[in-house]
Amino acid sequence: MDVLGYKLEPGEIVVGCIYLVHHRSDLYPNSHEFNPQRFIDRTFTPYEFMPFGGGVRRCIGEALAMYELKLVLAQVLSRYEFSLVDSAPELPRRRGVTLAPANGVRLVRSR
Ligand code: HEM
Repeated sequence: MDVLGYKLEPGEIVVGCIYLVHHRSDLYPNSHEFNPQRFIDRTFTPYEFMPFGGGVRRCIGEALAMYELKLVLAQVLSRYEFSLVDSAPELPRRRGVTLAPANGVRLVRSR
């Protein structure tokens, strides 16, 4: 079959790439810049911001993950300060359909 001009053979697997969506310059200018303000300035649709995937295979742990993240970050960051062990830019590594930091973003507690 043809999908948007690409010819797909029987048995070929097509997987969406969340990483590439999150680096589209029309949606995320300077996508490598840490800029939380972009999420305040604009409301992204589920087709534009999809850290938990979408459709029928969407992550079933999304609500738990978000709840855990908020609790853990609030507890840890209100008590301690951290600095990076290595300031070299972190590279992404594929982990299933998601991408994770290749080296795990190691931190040391500085206070
Ligand atoms: C920050 C944390 C997490 C992220 C970024 C994440 C992201 C994702 C993504 C992108 C998918 C694929 C969705 C798709 O194919 O469209 C997925 C699937 C899944 N996630 Fe998560 N997830 C997280 C946490 C969790 C947690 C805490 C659980 C369970 C308690 C969980 C359970 C699952 C399961 C079972 C699937 C497979 C769903 C299916 O194939 O039907 N995830 N997740």
